Amino acid sequence: FQLLRSGSASRASLLRRGYSSGAVPERKVAVLGAAGGIGQPLSLLMKLNPLVSKLALYDIAGTPGVAADVSHINTRSEIAGYAGEDQLGQALEGSDVVIIPAGVPRKPGMTRDDLFNINAGIVKSLCTAIAKYCPNALVNMISNPVNSTVPIAAEVFKKAGTYDEKKLFGVTTLDVVRAKTFYAGKAKVPVEEVNVPVVGGHAGITILPLFSQATPKANLPDEDIKALTKRTQDGGTEVVEAKAGKGSATLSMAYAGALFADACLKGLNGVPDVVECSFVQSSITELPFFASKVKLGKNGVDEVFGLGPLSDYEKQGLESLIPELKASIEKGIKFANQS
Ligand code: NAD
Ligand code: LMR
Repeated sequence: FQLLRSGSASRASLLRRGYSSGAVPERKVAVLGAAGGIGQPLSLLMKLNPLVSKLALYDIAGTPGVAADVSHINTRSEIAGYAGEDQLGQALEGSDVVIIPAGVPRKPGMTRDDLFNINAGIVKSLCTAIAKYCPNALVNMISNPVNSTVPIAAEVFKKAGTYDEKKLFGVTTLDVVRAKTFYAGKAKVPVEEVNVPVVGGHAGITILPLFSQATPKANLPDEDIKALTKRTQDGGTEVVEAKAGKGSATLSMAYAGALFADACLKGLNGVPDVVECSFVQSSITELPFFASKVKLGKNGVDEVFGLGPLSDYEKQGLESLIPELKASIEKGIKFANQS
């Protein structure tokens, strides 16, 4: 993103930032669902990322065109497009990070769980291939319902004998992006300075922004905090309704997905103190998966941070989200084990 504004001198300094040796390692990133509403702008943003040396764009169709288009951009990475299942193995081989925005999006009136029947099968087959062709890759799951697709992926990897809980991430960055934007607007503080952890899961009330920990501090009244919480929880629906049948968030999601993948790459490359919220295997609550702040390192998750001090309102929100999140996790586990 900085790259968009930078010339070659500052691009070189961006490349070196955080790298003691000055050499930026080779990293392959695969995007599965690369011809879709998220996949295309995400592929563009990953092409702009100087940490990527190879970019594999996979979809069931349409990727030769996307790859040819993006390949003309004069940045570091080499691009290849792969279309159809017989090319999936080639797309995945050697990947360090696999980003999955494959699957159907919501239309007005639908919940994310309404996507389960189609997307669960798509995620299961893609994860089966990941286990075979790049079992050590960090997997960034965007496909909804994330609260179920992440447990499905974990079960598929367990069955294949490749599961490493440090390498599986549900991408909840868009919730953080939204919480920061909405908070900055309400608190009238510069948006680029705002930090807000968002914990729990990625659907409705399971999305729990912790505005009591937001910085810069603004001491907003309770009704503002409630309105901000609700808007963050309903952010996806706000976009689905505005798009009126033409899908859900794609551009803001591509931005959020690119931010999270960049954090994963930095962690892999040994950049210190890379922290993002993500839905990961966790023991900070009674649930086996939970989103919270996570430190990213050379093997993926380095540390899962606890929730920190919560306001009474947030404690209530945490209590209310547990049953729904638990049911979504169990639904994913059951699907992966029965089919
Ligand atoms: P889209 O329909 O525009 O694109 C999806 C792409 O997936 C299509 O190009 C399709 O061909 C491809 N696809 C379908 N089956 C596939 C398979 N087996 N292998 C590879 N590719 C396959 O949808 P979109 O708007 O890009 O959304 C994609 C998913 O991301 C949806 O499930 C949506 O709900 C989810 N999403 C998640 C978040 C989040 O915060 N995690 C945010 C926005 C959207
Ligand atoms: C979002 O939060 O925008 C996504 O999960 C897509 C959706 O269905 O809302």
